[in-house]
Amino acid sequence: MPAGFQQLGGERITGTLALSVFTAVLGSLQFGYNIGVINAPQKIIEQDYNSTWRERYSEPIPSQTLTSLWSLSVAIFSIGGMVSSFSVGILSEYFGRRKAMLINNVLAFIGGGLMGMSKISRSFEMMILGRFTIGAYCGLVSGLVPMYVGEIAPTTLRGALGTLHQLAIVTGILMAQILGLESLLGSEQLWPVLLGVTVLPTVLQMTLLPFCPESPRFLYIIRCQEHHAKSALRRLTGRLEVSEDLAEMKEEKRKMDMERKASIAELFRSPMYQQPIIISILLQLSQQLSGINAIFYYSTDIFKKAGVENPVYATIGAGAVNCAFTIVSLFLVERMGRRTLHMLGLAGMCICAIIMTTALTLLETVPSMSYLSMMAIFGFVAFFEVGPGPIPWFFVAELFSQGPRPAAMAVAGCSNWTANFLIGMGFQYVANLCGPYVFLIFALLLLLFLVFTFFRVPETRGKTFDQISATFHNHPQNMMDMDQGKHSTELDYLDLGGPAEAV
Ligand code: GLC
Repeated sequence: MPAGFQQLGGERITGTLALSVFTAVLGSLQFGYNIGVINAPQKIIEQDYNSTWRERYSEPIPSQTLTSLWSLSVAIFSIGGMVSSFSVGILSEYFGRRKAMLINNVLAFIGGGLMGMSKISRSFEMMILGRFTIGAYCGLVSGLVPMYVGEIAPTTLRGALGTLHQLAIVTGILMAQILGLESLLGSEQLWPVLLGVTVLPTVLQMTLLPFCPESPRFLYIIRCQEHHAKSALRRLTGRLEVSEDLAEMKEEKRKMDMERKASIAELFRSPMYQQPIIISILLQLSQQLSGINAIFYYSTDIFKKAGVENPVYATIGAGAVNCAFTIVSLFLVERMGRRTLHMLGLAGMCICAIIMTTALTLLETVPSMSYLSMMAIFGFVAFFEVGPGPIPWFFVAELFSQGPRPAAMAVAGCSNWTANFLIGMGFQYVANLCGPYVFLIFALLLLLFLVFTFFRVPETRGKTFDQISATFHNHPQNMMDMDQGKHSTELDYLDLGGPAEAV
């Protein structure tokens, strides 16, 4: 582990902080890998389903049954995520963030094992169960990782480090797209390896997690272990003197002790949490209902329809653009803020969706339109990663203080996975109905989310959790400013000890 540190945004990135973030996002890497892995080898795995069916029933599988089995294999992943994301709150409170991540790895082993062994065992049931289990693993990752990273990150780097969760997801998607090529692991013999290698990052994560400190905010605010919190803070910051950080947590704890325990129901009942939970849900919906997974689940088909010659390589191109622009966001998020970037991303996606529709409509008469539609798809993906990709994940952790955070992460995660499931299941059906106009639906939704973000979403950059949650309670002036969509650096934090330091 490197002992030195770097200077970034005025904050030191110590070896321990870098190691802890890296270790946590190994889970996100698997999340992305399992999103992307199922796209390329579809036909080959279907052949195996068919031969298993033949062995069992001495007849070829009816095509309707094959389609249903395949759709189930794809979509059950999001059902696993929906189910498990709901227990993020309970697990992270009971075991702590770090131990919950450690225990979650059991699901990755079972899921990867089931999928990897399904061919030898001649069982598509094992494959489907494996996809469900790995989906459940990813559902927990989608809550635990942003929560842990958000809690260990220094205030001025919370956005940049939070974006690493998404960077690991997109890297995982790209790795799966490349390894899924028939010449690599996407072949008739090797597809079980392609699906099973997801356990490798699990092994690495299990080896490294014991060297990472537990979240000091969890230790101090939830477990009241000041001594342990201090030593975790010292390791993470590389400073011996951590009383300022502790004072901030003390203030948060003092406020939390005065509040009632925040259950999921309480989030919707309490006027204090209603606004942030609605914002959290809508941000997650803006991510999924933007239509991004229509591209990532069905890109090969979409590129084929757009007249692109090598759809598989175009899909990898989309994966590469996806990675590149997440890195762009990483550098912009602490400079331009979450709100601006999210709006920029939504607006850009909306314009690209309109260009894509126009190009697809004109394709019959003007063949060169296939290039325009490919560029529009790349643009769509690029703008997604500027804002709507990374921001909703860590934004929820930012909007809530320690008490309600786990419940909020559970609700937000579950909304995300439900919308993901709906797109995965419904897109092809709607695309068949609407033809080239299907992306206009996303354009309209994107516009609505843009308007919502403009009027309702506050800026959180550079603010402590306590200052952010103060934006939502006992502060009529702030609420009014937010309602009018004012940039929150204009918000008045005087009664909280002066404005938060901007980066
Ligand atoms: C986000 C979404 C995920 C999507 C990915 C694409 O992480 O949550 O569903 O596939 O971005 O990069």
